[in-house]
Amino acid sequence: MSSVHRTSRPRLRGDIDIPGDKSISHRAVIFNAVATGSARITNFLTGADCLSTISCARALGVEVAQEDGEVHVRGVGLRGLREPADVLDCGNSGTTLRLLAGLLAGTSIFTVLTGDASLRSRPQRRIVEPLRALGAQIDGRQSGDRAPLAVRGGSLRGGAYRLPVASAQVKSALLLAALGGSGPLTLSGRIDSRDHTERMLIAMGVDLQIGPDEIILHPPTHPVLPYPLSLRVPGDLSSAAFWWVAAAIHPDAELTTLGVCLNPTRTGALDVLGTMGAAITITNQRIEGSEPVGDVTVRSSHLRGTIIDRALIPRLIDEIPILAIAAACAEGETVVRDAQELRAKESDRIATVAAGLTALGVEVEPAHDGMTIMGLGGPALCGAALQSHHDHRLAMAWAVASLVASGETTITDPESTAVSYPGFWETLREIER
Ligand code: S3P
Repeated sequence: MSSVHRTSRPRLRGDIDIPGDKSISHRAVIFNAVATGSARITNFLTGADCLSTISCARALGVEVAQEDGEVHVRGVGLRGLREPADVLDCGNSGTTLRLLAGLLAGTSIFTVLTGDASLRSRPQRRIVEPLRALGAQIDGRQSGDRAPLAVRGGSLRGGAYRLPVASAQVKSALLLAALGGSGPLTLSGRIDSRDHTERMLIAMGVDLQIGPDEIILHPPTHPVLPYPLSLRVPGDLSSAAFWWVAAAIHPDAELTTLGVCLNPTRTGALDVLGTMGAAITITNQRIEGSEPVGDVTVRSSHLRGTIIDRALIPRLIDEIPILAIAAACAEGETVVRDAQELRAKESDRIATVAAGLTALGVEVEPAHDGMTIMGLGGPALCGAALQSHHDHRLAMAWAVASLVASGETTITDPESTAVSYPGFWETLREIER
C-alpha cells in the first residue's frame, strides 16, 4: 500500500476554490435522471463517489455526458429506467447505494446494488426495513442488512415512518421510493439531517410539505419529476472544513475557502469552531440555486475545548475527524457524544480517529457514542505513522495534523482522498508555499 511522508510547514496562505458538494452532486444526477428534459450541472464533484453515481445512472439507461467540467443529464422518468445487464457497482459510496435502492424500489426493473469491501460492511437494514414497509421487495446478505442488495422494483404504497436516526441517506431513500408510490408518505422523528433532497425535489416541482416535525411527499401524478434542475453545485463544506482547521491550529495561517455551501443543516462545524475561539470571517454571502453560499476565511487562533452533542451531531457528522484535530490542539477537554453514527461510516470513525490521535501523542477516551479528547493546549502533536483505513476523511484529517506535528508523519493510502476531494494534495502543496 502506498503512503506519503510529511513534515510541518512554517506558513499557510491562500484562496481556495472548493470543489462541488458531494451530497448535491449525487442528487443532481439521480434526480435529473428521473425528470423530464435535460439539465446542465456545473462545478460537479468529480470525486470517485459521484463518478460511481454517474456510471450507475448510465447502466440504468440514462444519458449522462461529462464535458469541460460540466455534466449533462437527459431525464427518462421513473418508468424510462432500463434494467441493467449487470450488478450496479456503487464503489465506496453509501449515498449512491442507499438513494438508488430507494428510487429503484418503486420502478418496474430488477437491480443488484453492491460496492467495495467498506460499503459491503455498512448497515443497510436502516433503508431495507422501511422500504419493505412501503411494499418494496428487497433483500441482501444478513437478511438484508448488508450489500449486495437485490431490488425487485414494484408498486409501492404510501404510509408513515418515524425515522429513528438522523440520516439524510435514509430520509432520501424513502422520499425517492415514495415518488413511485400510490399514496403520500409522511416522515417524522429524526428528519433533522441535511435537507438537500427536500430543497432540490421542491425546485423540481415535487409536492413536498415540510413542517417542524414531519415531511409529507405526494407522489407526482405521472412517475416523473416535473422539471429538470440545472445548477452550479456549491463548494462542499465538508471539504472546506479541513482548511478551516488547518488555519485555526497553525501558528502562522490565513486561508480563505471560496464558494462554500452554508446550508444550516451542514454548518455545525463552523458553529463549533466559533465556540472554540477560531477567528472566522464569512463574506460574500449569497443564494446559489436552492442553497446559501459564502466565502469563509480562518486565521491562526487559540482554541478552547468544547462539547459536541445532541442536535449539533447531524449538522457536522462528516466533520468529526477534522474537528478532533482541532480539539487535540485546543486548551482543555473536548467531549463528543450522541455520535454513534460514526461507527457506520467509511470506517468506524470512533475507533479509527481515537487510534490516530493516540499515535499523535494525544490522550483520548473512546466511548460507545463518541470520545473525550484531552487538548494539548496548542499545536504540539508528535509526528507518527497514521492509518487512513481507506477512509478519505481520515487521510485528510491526518494531512492537516501533519502541518503542525513535530518530526515526520506518514499517512497510508493517500489516494483515498479522491473519493471526495480529487485535488486535495495539490491544494495542500499550494497553500504551503
Ligand atoms: C450523506 C449523508 C450522511 C453523510 C454522507 C453523505 C448524503 O450520511 O455522512 O457523507 O449525501 O445524504 P447519513 O445519511 O448516513 O447520515
